[in-house]
Amino acid sequence: MPQLQLLPLLLLLLLLQALALALPSQIPTRSTTRLPNPFIFADGRTVATAAEWTCRQQEILYIFEQYELGDLPPASDSLTASLSNTTLSISVTAAGRSATFTVAIRRGSGSGSGPSPAIIAMGNALVPFDSRISLLTFNNSAFAAQNGSGSRGEGIFYNIFGSGHSAGALTAWAWGVSRIIDALEKLGPQASGIDATRLGVTGCSRNGKGAFVAGALDRRIALTIPQESGAGGSASWRISDRLKAGGANIQTADQIVGENVWFSTRFNSHVHAITSTPYDHHFLAGLVAPRGLYIPENSIDWLGPVSMTGAMRAARHIYTALGVSENMGFSLVGGHGHCQFPSSQNAEIAQFIDYFLLGGTTKPRVIDRSDVTVDLDQWVDWTAPTLS
Ligand SMILES: *[C@@H]1O[C@H](CO)[C@@H](O)[C@H](O)[C@H]1NC(C)=O
Ligand SMILES: *[C@@H]1O[C@H](CO)[C@@H](O)[C@H](O)[C@H]1NC(C)=O
Ligand SMILES: *[C@@H]1O[C@H](CO)[C@@H](O)[C@H](O)[C@H]1NC(C)=O
Repeated sequence: MPQLQLLPLLLLLLLLQALALALPSQIPTRSTTRLPNPFIFADGRTVATAAEWTCRQQEILYIFEQYELGDLPPASDSLTASLSNTTLSISVTAAGRSATFTVAIRRGSGSGSGPSPAIIAMGNALVPFDSRISLLTFNNSAFAAQNGSGSRGEGIFYNIFGSGHSAGALTAWAWGVSRIIDALEKLGPQASGIDATRLGVTGCSRNGKGAFVAGALDRRIALTIPQESGAGGSASWRISDRLKAGGANIQTADQIVGENVWFSTRFNSHVHAITSTPYDHHFLAGLVAPRGLYIPENSIDWLGPVSMTGAMRAARHIYTALGVSENMGFSLVGGHGHCQFPSSQNAEIAQFIDYFLLGGTTKPRVIDRSDVTVDLDQWVDWTAPTLS
């Protein structure tokens, strides 16, 4: 009776096939009111080595795309770059369509005759930095509009990929920043005058959210400086919701998706179920790790001082696990206007710029500074492993 013996085998094969089909698209959601443990893979395995953290980062990137950012398209199919004095022109072809955009360059003095490091600014750079560094100004709002909830799908990115593309503005800008880096690599250090291995990215407030996401999505960026990014940047969706429930005037996920088009429409269905999502914004810093990350913040209620401090202290566990706690600086100082970088943070940012952009050999000291206190045990019930 060969059929009877084959049947269990056949069933097993069908079961295995069903499992194989189900696995890649599923992220088990561990509902938690606390900040999720970044050191556990979706399938339950523990992250034990630095190499495994790199794999986990791929999973985390996928989570961000599915839950809030929308899809990050691959690099353009073709790209040409040209330089005319202080204007970098970039032409890209992707998804069968072409577009050109320009980036304004303010030349830094560099170190001697060699190419200079550079900072790419989302809109504007509002942090101080050494005159040896060049400034590349990216008009992110032209690349993907951020002019209220009615501006979805407008700008150069959507002219290329179509107005219905899943990417929100933050993701669209990150894609643009990556093409700027492609252009610098293509021109080379001599022609561009810029050292593409020593690049920073910055922006403030809404553009600070953008700078954080750009730094998270492109590993070629050596130093990420998201300034006063608040919700969608350094703040935790969970902690902000809790503070709002306690009466704070704070930006939350529910509010942010109605205010503007920074996120994918995919996020809309999660903003009332944040505790059911498998991530929070300490994971965003985890995508930047182990690269340089300096986060200057302000004590403005809307940004969520307690939320930002809690999320970034949780994120520090990731940098600590990788043995590079000094590569991440968190500094929340109040008493100044929004996006008015106070001089009391000058020495902090200078250390990061020196080490990550100017080739200095002195590591930054570990910076963990905040005007507010957070009971981290209330939010974090896991510890950092040592990732060898
Ligand atoms: C290059 O740009 C600088 C700054 O905008 C300007 O002062 C200078 O005249 C320009 N040089 C040429 C050759 O166009
Ligand atoms: C950036 O682009 C926006 C939208 O196209 C435009 O209104 C604005 O003038 C541009 N800013 C600069 C500095 O070119
Ligand atoms: C932004 O939207 C407002 C209306 O909501 C409109 O008046 C304004 O012209 C828009 N600005 C840009 C740069 O599109």
